Amino acid sequence: MSNNAEVGLYRRTLIKYLTHLFTNSLIDMNILITGSNGQLGSEIRAIASQFSNYNFFFTDIAELDLSNYKQVELYFEENTISVCVNCAAYTAVDKAEDEQDIAMLVNCDVVGNLAKVCSNNNALLIHVSTDYVFDGTHYKPYEETDPTAPNSYYGLTKLKGEEAVFANTDKAVVIRTSWLYSSYGNNFVKTMIRLGKERDELGVVVDQIGTPTHAADLAMAIMKIVQKNGNNNIKEIYHYSNEGVISWYDFAIAIMKEANISCRVNAIESKDFPAKANRPFYSVLNKAKLKNDFQIEVPYWLDSLKVMIKQIG
Ligand SMILES: NC(=O)c1ccc[n+]([C@@H]2O[C@H](COP(=O)([O-])OP(=O)(O)OC[C@H]3O[C@@H](n4cnc5c(N)ncnc54)[C@H](OP(=O)(O)O)[C@@H]3O)[C@@H](O)[C@H]2O)c1
Repeated sequence: MSNNAEVGLYRRTLIKYLTHLFTNSLIDMNILITGSNGQLGSEIRAIASQFSNYNFFFTDIAELDLSNYKQVELYFEENTISVCVNCAAYTAVDKAEDEQDIAMLVNCDVVGNLAKVCSNNNALLIHVSTDYVFDGTHYKPYEETDPTAPNSYYGLTKLKGEEAVFANTDKAVVIRTSWLYSSYGNNFVKTMIRLGKERDELGVVVDQIGTPTHAADLAMAIMKIVQKNGNNNIKEIYHYSNEGVISWYDFAIAIMKEANISCRVNAIESKDFPAKANRPFYSVLNKAKLKNDFQIEVPYWLDSLKVMIKQIG
């Protein structure tokens, strides 16, 4: 072979090798989003294209039923999953009082099994929990280390789910959030808009205090955690909601105003609005730990509400 031909062959091989290396390094990780037809899962799907270095797998119960352990195990192996964001849950707070078995299965047993599979595959699990793990008797925003004491069966199942995570893996982040809403799925904002259009006045509870969370903001915070910790060992609980403190009554007033609905909102007490499940009277979450660890700026609740209402038109 002449010198020129040898150089040509060498060049072509090198280019081929570099191209292979480059394309593979573009895909950093395979990320599984479970329960992805729900509010939070849909918001992660909506921003996925901004993270082109990750390969996303979006599943809900039809594609991957998390209560089927063997199926989950196989899915992780076949798709070399490195990160799993668990957005799947049983979220019907009042119904959970009657459907205790299914609520505990989805929010605890399934979560423990998912954590085990993550551990076996050295994958990071990001699991979402709730402010309802607290009893709501606090007077200042709850920190991650504050004692838990759920006052509903849903809250209990979510607390057991957190425990199941840490009992089965050493590589996990649990994020507690509150009053989640989104342009996807059903939630308080959409219910208020619908009722506000149907009625002249509405009663909304004024003695439950917390902070709404636009699921789009939480989705972005989760992706920041993935970016920083996708490959690392981490075992932490974090709190995330939007910024600020309000009652459901204040929230309803703001929704009517932003959506240009003239329905009058009346303040009522929880005792006059009987619900099957108890809810915490105060469940504001302290977000300092997450803001410090990930340099995340948390939007003010009203700014995020405006964004969402604009989205749904
Ligand atoms: N919504 C809130 O106000 C709120 C507040 C605080 C914390 N959180 C927590 O935030 C997380 C996300 O909530 P979200 O409002 O986005 O929930 P969501 O809209 O109710 O979505 C949950 C999804 O999980 C699916 N799912 C249920 N069982 C499953 C299974 N066995 N396998 C696979 N998927 C399953 C559901 O399917 P089906 O619809 O078919 O059941 C649904 O698509 C949850 O962990 C929730 O507990 C929510």
